[in-house]
Amino acid sequence: MAPPLNFEGLVQNERVHRKIYTDSEVFEAEMERIFERTWVFVGHESEVAAAGDYKTVTIGAQPAIMTRDEDGGVHVLMNRCMHRGSTICQEQRGNSSYFRCWYHGWTYSNRGQLVGLPYAGGYGKTFDRSKFSLKRARVGIYRGLVFASLSPDAPDLADHLGHAKYYIDLFMDLSPEGEVEARCGTHKYGYDGNWKFQMENGVDGYHPNFVHQSFFEVQGKKLGRKVMKLFTEASAYQSRDLGNGHSILDMAPRRKSHRPVNNILRGSTSKESNDQYVDSLVRRYGEERTSEILGASNVNLAVFPNLLIIGIQFRNVIPISVSRTDVFLTPTTLKGVPEEINVARLRAHEAFYGSAGGGAPDDVEMFNRCTAGLRVKDAEWLELSRGVEREHTADDGSIVAHITDEVPQRAFYRKWRTLMCGAAATVAASYPRPVAALD
Ligand code: FES
Ligand SMILES: [Fe+2]
Repeated sequence: MAPPLNFEGLVQNERVHRKIYTDSEVFEAEMERIFERTWVFVGHESEVAAAGDYKTVTIGAQPAIMTRDEDGGVHVLMNRCMHRGSTICQEQRGNSSYFRCWYHGWTYSNRGQLVGLPYAGGYGKTFDRSKFSLKRARVGIYRGLVFASLSPDAPDLADHLGHAKYYIDLFMDLSPEGEVEARCGTHKYGYDGNWKFQMENGVDGYHPNFVHQSFFEVQGKKLGRKVMKLFTEASAYQSRDLGNGHSILDMAPRRKSHRPVNNILRGSTSKESNDQYVDSLVRRYGEERTSEILGASNVNLAVFPNLLIIGIQFRNVIPISVSRTDVFLTPTTLKGVPEEINVARLRAHEAFYGSAGGGAPDDVEMFNRCTAGLRVKDAEWLELSRGVEREHTADDGSIVAHITDEVPQRAFYRKWRTLMCGAAATVAASYPRPVAALD
């Protein structure tokens, strides 16, 4: 039998071993040491807006159900019958106060209690149905984002999110009501490759000019400017390690702006709608915060381990096996804005990320090619050193370098190693609001 893997040796400061993408022993350990020990993104509150709404989700490879009870509480129940193990809910989403297991009919409330026991007389007098409630995860909600944790020892969600909260706030505050909704459906895709490829890629500013060249050229012609400039050496944009494995590609303008960001991923809208929208933001947040929201919200955010917030979407990365991954991509609408704004956001989103879009399918092809390439055994390491000599710790505590640098990937693997190997955490001690660094 092969000796157990030394996980720490697989991730070094500036390179990672191919086995972290190909070895099923690593994958099984990730499910336990990462997905069972930290907070895992499962969805948005608006997906279970009404009493009785539910949605099936996963925590790592474990099936679960996010439910909304009749008193408005949100629960994450493990999708496993306490009789003999069947899943009790097969639907992707729906509305029901109860879940009945098809195998022998045990029935549970949407809070997880066993409320129906067919032919109950067959069980002895000492049978206590209260001991057969569904297993449940801890639930944490931040600005409508629902996270689940299987660990009683995981830190509070707010501590886990840390500095990522600032960017989540910006994303939500693009709505003058401070809320987004995720009710336009979910676009699902999968690929033959490891889940970490997608997490790395969502905050990879080095690849767009190559993988997305054709899309950028078409967009450049449409907009009459050079979109590809954003990702060249001349770009003023940055990548940032926010601590705790979270990171961003920071594509905010270097100046404060009162204009909605009409970039290629958020769509263009008429002046009238823009003005109406900005006015509503100013009424809600005041001039200064409105400038901050519109100026600083243009980022790709990775929240360790399985959430990306990009453009207008939440992207939920779902590990299936060491070499198979599902990705659920859920676009959002802003509450309280002219319809034209939301329509433009959605159309622009579809143009790049839709199943026939010009961008996201090309990324997936790269994941498939990486999986094939990593079958070569004579080349063991993947290089993540880009920018290591020019990264620096900013006054606000984040580690900053150029947008094309591999700062976000190094951030991800620092946290990976902490959880997989118990190494010391590396969280910046003090961290004022990052926008200060953008002035
Ligand atoms: S396995 Fe669910 S009722 Fe038997
Ligand atoms: Fe991409």
